[in-house]
Amino acid sequence: MDRPIAYDKLARENRFVRMRARDVGELRVEQGLAPFPDLASPESIRERVHGIMVGELQAMEGAGRSVYDFPDAPWEFTMDMARQVWDESRHVEIYLALIDHLGGYAGEFPETTILWRCACAEDAAARVAGVNRGLEGLACDVFAQLIHIAKKIGDPVIERAVDFVLADEITHVRMGSRWLNELTRDDPERRRRAVEFQDSIDERFNLGGARRDGAPEEVGISIAKDARRLAGFTDEEIERLIKSTQRSPVY
Ligand SMILES: [Fe+2]
Ligand SMILES: [Fe+2]
Repeated sequence: MDRPIAYDKLARENRFVRMRARDVGELRVEQGLAPFPDLASPESIRERVHGIMVGELQAMEGAGRSVYDFPDAPWEFTMDMARQVWDESRHVEIYLALIDHLGGYAGEFPETTILWRCACAEDAAARVAGVNRGLEGLACDVFAQLIHIAKKIGDPVIERAVDFVLADEITHVRMGSRWLNELTRDDPERRRRAVEFQDSIDERFNLGGARRDGAPEEVGISIAKDARRLAGFTDEEIERLIKSTQRSPVY
């Protein structure tokens, strides 16, 4: 792959602070907090929304890379990735506005780069499996949960804004499902490696099996079954996710 510019660096203003996800999780646990913001307090909602904002930023950058990195990919693939850049840039704006709505600011919490690192996968099939199906599938779960919490606390701004973004994410996961199939149609080994990459990402968010069943406000992240079905996940895949992550299938 030809790389005329540093491909492993993210351009950020000074107000952004970069940290390893593992270090952030460990520091949180040391302070008696859950490894991920649990949405139980206004501060943890603000922190979760901030994490999503930087995720959207990296999703935009990752899709932009995919436009550039695979000049031999089918034209429709490149178009889908270009559309995704446009969608993600709107998501960044929406989440910046939500941070404002919640009284926070960009840079208030550290930025981790899990999404970006997945977007650096060398194979286009692995990239759409890992980012579009793995991470954006997870985004569907996170957004469905956030909508549920917003309804519960009576915040229609968050509820509607996140619902609009969720509609886009479902199309991004569908893109991932489509291109995983098309790019690996005659290459089962390439498909196996891409799916393995996606599975490793799903496992990374399992938090060592620390999740448990329960109401959405009590669990880390629940599985948004309906949104995932709309996004092209099979029932078998959803069941496997629920088992492997011990997440709660509440929606
Ligand atoms: Fe997004
Ligand atoms: Fe997306």
